[in-house]
Amino acid sequence: MIPTPHIESKNKDEIAKTVIMPGDPLRAKFIVDTFLADVKQFNKVRNVFGYTGTYRGRRISVMASGMGMPSIGIYSYELYKFYDVENIVRIGSCGGYTPEVKLYDVILAKDAWSESSYAKVQSGYEGDIIEGTPELNRSLINYANELGIPIHIERIHTSDVFYRENFDEYKEIYEKYGCVAVEMEAFALFHNAKVLGRNASCLLTVSDNLATKEITTSEERQNAFTNMMKIALEMAE
Ligand code: HPA
Repeated sequence: MIPTPHIESKNKDEIAKTVIMPGDPLRAKFIVDTFLADVKQFNKVRNVFGYTGTYRGRRISVMASGMGMPSIGIYSYELYKFYDVENIVRIGSCGGYTPEVKLYDVILAKDAWSESSYAKVQSGYEGDIIEGTPELNRSLINYANELGIPIHIERIHTSDVFYRENFDEYKEIYEKYGCVAVEMEAFALFHNAKVLGRNASCLLTVSDNLATKEITTSEERQNAFTNMMKIALEMAE
């Protein structure tokens, strides 16, 4: 069933087996402009840009997910199910829940805890923790080691809400579930990969810290985020 309602490519071969997914379409464009050669754009529906190119001669795609589980839920499902994508590596920002994760540190999400109904509504899955794909995680850990980029391998919180009335709730989520940081997409991505028999991982860079109240500026982020991009790009084949 291609094209899909949200991806206009009429040819599966236009999309590589591995897709790197930042949230922001302009970050997808930044990755492509900075790192890829032989680039062809395969999607611009809703400005959710998708591109395929080569990284050091190896093929890889980059497509934005938008923000939140409903959005990444749509794009990752269509890529896995209708475009035969095998691996999706989300790269995003997160808010640290503990001073142990510092601004610009890179976190690989071992698994994601969420209070969201996404998995229950999608397939009836009642659990509240979903793992990233261990083999894909292992590859990313190896690439990070080879590149000399330190990473935390931890549980994260995937939240439906960015602005909570009770700001201090994060302390309980950290203590009760062991989530070291919060973002808004991984739980849905991991769930889709699981139900469709595909692979998903999530690399995050700490853009703010709820415990220390530190924040980064948008210019600082653009540069600091290249570490996690370089790790993910090594998945090119
Ligand atoms: N909450 C949710 N998602 C985020 C945050 C946050 O504080 N920071 C970066 N992504």
